[in-house]
Amino acid sequence: MGDILYSYFQPSFVDFYDMMVETCFGGIHSTDVQEFCTLFKHRLESSSAKAPEFRTVDLGTGTGRCILALLNSLQEGKISQKDLHFLGLDNSEVMIKRALEKLQSLSNDESKKNVTVGIKVQSLEDWDVPEWHEGVDLILAAAGPFHHLLTESAVVRTLKQIELHLKAKGEGLAVINLLSPDQLFHREIRDSEGLALTEEAFKVGPYRRWRVNHEMSVVDGARVMHEKFKLTRVSADESVEWEEQEEWTLREVDRDRLVSLAAQVGLEQLLDVRTPCKDCLFFQRK
Ligand SMILES: C[S@@+](CC[C@H](N)C(=O)[O-])C[C@H]1O[C@@H](n2cnc3c(N)ncnc32)[C@H](O)[C@@H]1O
Repeated sequence: MGDILYSYFQPSFVDFYDMMVETCFGGIHSTDVQEFCTLFKHRLESSSAKAPEFRTVDLGTGTGRCILALLNSLQEGKISQKDLHFLGLDNSEVMIKRALEKLQSLSNDESKKNVTVGIKVQSLEDWDVPEWHEGVDLILAAAGPFHHLLTESAVVRTLKQIELHLKAKGEGLAVINLLSPDQLFHREIRDSEGLALTEEAFKVGPYRRWRVNHEMSVVDGARVMHEKFKLTRVSADESVEWEEQEEWTLREVDRDRLVSLAAQVGLEQLLDVRTPCKDCLFFQRK
């Protein structure tokens, strides 16, 4: 058994993660990203006719699920007259590598000639695209990337970067998905056999994942859970092909506290967004 590594930095975890997202949530067809697609369409339609471009940043893009869904939603013939720019950021090289592989197949698509897609290894806390300061229409953080920010100052740094890049009030929008403490700490993800992740092996295709250890602490007033897992891949007769350990840490994010921290860096919460995005908070610049 090798060294224990952060889950998202392990190539073997990426395979498991992608299969899990596909099997349990429907991949690019899952409800959350479909809601982002609807929101994207509304924002694009209502963006200033004068602006020649529409820019979207996907924070913690993972293997590109969100951007792929957005690209998929751009139907031939109905594509916007604007130039559409997408940028996905993630601090995991292996997740980014997988995102790039998936996006490769779209690069020759004639219907997307006015579309550019960039995928980069960058941390949420210090991501920066200087030429896009005050120039981004939509910033997405799907499937809870904020829970990977382990201190309040990390959250604040990330919010500051969002504020720095968003277009002015009324034009730029940030959408941050949060998981409830229950979703975060007592996950109810269940496989086809009804086994809960936290109780017994979570089975997806040839993968089996167990939580082998967990420790709860409090950082800056919020609960933080450090979890260690055993991940195995089995063959058809259930014999183990390989076995690894991986670990991650998740920090709970209180919604009111996030709104208050956002206000401190010049972001205000928007409550009347037309498109419902479940479990998301919306922000614009003040
Ligand atoms: C649950 S996945 C979500 C992936 C993607 N947003 C989706 O909806 O499928 C969380 C992602 O956040 C990334 N991540 C965690 N901490 C990060 C950080 N500090 N900076 C950038 N990315 C981070 C992980 O590598 C992982 O790809």
